[in-house]
Amino acid sequence: MNIELIQGNILEKTCDFLALYQFKDAKRLTGATGAADQEMAGAISALIEQKSFAGKLGENMVFPTFGKMKARSVALIGLGDKKKFNADTVRKIGGYLVKLSREHRMRSVATNLPGVETASLPACESAQALTEGLLLAGHQFHTYKGAQFKKEKKPRELGQVFILETDKRALKFGPEGLEAGCVLAEATMLARDLVNTPSADMTPAQLVEEAQKLIVRGSNISCKVLDQKVMERLGMNAALSVARGSQYAPVGAHLVYRPKNSKKTVAIVGKAVTFDSGGLSLKPAQSMETMKIDMAGAASVIGLFKALTVLKPEVTVHGIFLAVENMPGGSAYRPGDVVTAMDGTTIEIKNTDAEGRVTLADALVYANKQKPDLMIDLATLTGACVVALGEDIAGLMTNNERLGQKLLRAAKDTGELLWELPLYEPYMEPIKSKIADINNTGGCEAGAIKGALFLKLFVGDTPWAHLDIAGPSYAEKET
Ligand code: BES
Ligand code: MN
Ligand code: ZN
Repeated sequence: MNIELIQGNILEKTCDFLALYQFKDAKRLTGATGAADQEMAGAISALIEQKSFAGKLGENMVFPTFGKMKARSVALIGLGDKKKFNADTVRKIGGYLVKLSREHRMRSVATNLPGVETASLPACESAQALTEGLLLAGHQFHTYKGAQFKKEKKPRELGQVFILETDKRALKFGPEGLEAGCVLAEATMLARDLVNTPSADMTPAQLVEEAQKLIVRGSNISCKVLDQKVMERLGMNAALSVARGSQYAPVGAHLVYRPKNSKKTVAIVGKAVTFDSGGLSLKPAQSMETMKIDMAGAASVIGLFKALTVLKPEVTVHGIFLAVENMPGGSAYRPGDVVTAMDGTTIEIKNTDAEGRVTLADALVYANKQKPDLMIDLATLTGACVVALGEDIAGLMTNNERLGQKLLRAAKDTGELLWELPLYEPYMEPIKSKIADINNTGGCEAGAIKGALFLKLFVGDTPWAHLDIAGPSYAEKET
């Protein structure tokens, strides 16, 4: 998809359709929508009246211009409540434009930056959100389709987006947002592709190779590979145990982004189980169907590093994951085994399906050795988190209120929702072990919290946040 921000009037642009916007219950047609209505001799306001178009978010009408304007059609799209309008509204609008193009077989669109005309949003933010929405909605995963599919004629896809503005400030600050939107969307699409790739092809070694692809000249990124030997030398026996039932050797990646002027150091740790069968505590068939997604945390780390190469923040970033496959092979770790993490903590395995926390124990200890100012882990850790918060919302658990508040703020701004769950210490009781320092599971209540309490043992005093992304890591249906 090609997205351009250019100077000009959308009414004069030749294209398949013109996107016009309308807030909910607006009394009059203003701005571009009003101007288009005049060009069409009041036809738009007449249609609004006739079809009782209210302007609810995502509500839309597509109608032909009958040669009254250069665009062949007009799509009138509702912006919803003016008071609730924000960057996420614009992101959704990007998505609607892609959907409408598919439904109506249109390939090019002309639009303004939503919310800029009414000063509801700065041009930079609007351009970024619109770009993200367009690219992310347009993203598809066709790698595994066969020859027949590739020959078939595809429905028309949105290929060309003209963003037209006349306002000087919009033209000055818009391009920055457009650029940022492209970078972030491309990072997200990379993460999606890695998650969507079947486990047979996205093995631990392959996942680490994907991380190494990010080392390009001038990116300030390096990547240390922690192969099995290194992991053994470091004493990562917890992570090594999880990998034992698989034919694939475990392997870790330690990415570092080091800018010239570094003000802070952060470590981002991702869960990297390339397939989670449950191990000897085998999952039921249905629960296993989507378990290729169990490396989504690591995919986020890789996506992040792709974005860092362009965004170049003045922060040193460590990206760490230990890739393993959780399988029930003959040398698999067993329920009842005791394994020792890198910091010496002994873990009694009660359930081999609680493998994420066992691998993360070593990853977090290793990350903390980099002396970061803060650590964040992303992990598809518990089904319990999906039960609690559903597929759209990730769980946030933290030992640091300030960090938590910042993440909640960022979640709102980016439309990637987080909800905080408490790290309630009394819930540690059932995960205390009789024979080791800690059990890897205990009881079936508050599973997401218990998972996080387990991880907390391995972060010391470092400000840390755990994001349980089991729900949002995978979208079964279109949103
Ligand atoms: N990878 C799963 C969690 C998961 C479930 C991710 C559904 C995405 C969707 C994790 O390793 C797991 O199996 N967790 C167990 C923990 C239990 C044994 C304490 C779970 O959630 O059932
Ligand atoms: Mn599991
Ligand atoms: Zn898992």
